[in-house]
Amino acid sequence: MSEMKPIFKGVRGAPDILPGEVGRWQRVEAEARRILQDYGYQEIRTPIFERTELFVRGIGEGTDIVEKQMYTFEDRGKESLTLRPEGTAPVIRACLEHHLLTRGGLYKVYYTGPMFRHERPQAGRFRQFHQIGAEAIGVEDPALDAEVLDLLCHLFDTLGVSGWKLHLNSIGDEACRPVFREQFTRYVQAKKEKLCPDCRVRLERNPLRILDCKEEGCRSLVAQAPSPLESLCKDCKTHFHRLQELLGLLKIDYSVNEHLVRGLDYYTRTAFEFVNPALGAQNAIAGGGRYDRLVDEMGGPPMPGIGFAIGMERLLISLPQEEQGEMWIGVFAATLGKEASQLALQIVQGLRRQGVRASLDLEGRSLKSQMRLAHKERYRYTLILGDEELKTGLATLKDMAKGDQEQIPLREVVNRLVSQESRGRAE
Ligand code: HAM
Repeated sequence: MSEMKPIFKGVRGAPDILPGEVGRWQRVEAEARRILQDYGYQEIRTPIFERTELFVRGIGEGTDIVEKQMYTFEDRGKESLTLRPEGTAPVIRACLEHHLLTRGGLYKVYYTGPMFRHERPQAGRFRQFHQIGAEAIGVEDPALDAEVLDLLCHLFDTLGVSGWKLHLNSIGDEACRPVFREQFTRYVQAKKEKLCPDCRVRLERNPLRILDCKEEGCRSLVAQAPSPLESLCKDCKTHFHRLQELLGLLKIDYSVNEHLVRGLDYYTRTAFEFVNPALGAQNAIAGGGRYDRLVDEMGGPPMPGIGFAIGMERLLISLPQEEQGEMWIGVFAATLGKEASQLALQIVQGLRRQGVRASLDLEGRSLKSQMRLAHKERYRYTLILGDEELKTGLATLKDMAKGDQEQIPLREVVNRLVSQESRGRAE
């Protein structure tokens, strides 16, 4: 083949997911869907873009996402739109717009798909990345928090993620968070000169964001800062205490990380992250928490809620390497001569219509090279059709996994292969 000189390259931070990788994505998505459904979640699909205002109000004006990371553009109707940087605000918007929460009680939905943030790309950090997220709306009881955390532990264990750790915190509510903010701001103000330039701005605009800064100087300052747990009001303290009791009951391991705040403003009380320490700087594989005020801030009734999102790319690199190619299914029809090719086309059509993976050569390969291809693509059977077979009315069927072969009457080929193939799959 002549050398290729592609004119275009994909955008940095927005990787392609190639055919060889897609199988892993599909298997993880299928497992996640199954578990989410077992826990009572239904799927919801919202658009990839929304009005910019939704994210500004939902996520919070002073957050890094809104200030620096949104893909915002004006459409031809001069409306400001934004590619969704996360799924919670759109889901609440859709639930309210379609009156999904009017029956009261617990409402559970999940979603999957691409999200967009203009961050500096690095290992594990992309500009287009994918989340599997879930929201459970309508219940304040910490038993729901425990159930959500249990779901994630169950999913990670089922997928075989090794070494994951759950970090947990409570960041209070509208009654006690101002007390903490005040104490924290006073503490940081006194040591302002140690902050990075970004955090000096944060100190003026949204001081709690300093807790999220990754700069070494800011992190060591934060390590000595007052803890939000000390300023929790009685209700938040009871909620957090009860959650920890329930996690004990369900045998879920966690550690309290009192400086965990999360990068979105809607959180109240429970905040959590699942980290995989082996991933380096971008080690959060999932994050979430309660947002007991978000629904009413977005114009709905006062309804508590909790949710999470898993970062698919980070989850995938946390999984054990799979054995490649253990699948031996389907039939490859290897042919010699025009007449045989024509018959193979009909047989393959018949097999595909009965749900059997089947293929044939369309490139004029030699019989030997067709056999090699069938082996490489891990077909369980090769059906050999040449002049001899057409003459005798018997085709040769080779079991590629076991190496045996037998002769079968051409008229029975499709039916035999359909039943053989289903037996092969069951083996
Ligand atoms: P988040 O912590 O911003 O939360 O994102 C959740 C997960 O998405 C992260 O833990 C990470 O695995 C992945 N992620 C975030 N940014 C990137 C990136 N640039 N590249 C690769 N992966 C990334 C939320 O989005 C909330 N909506 C979660 C939630 C749902 N809270 C309540 N309900």
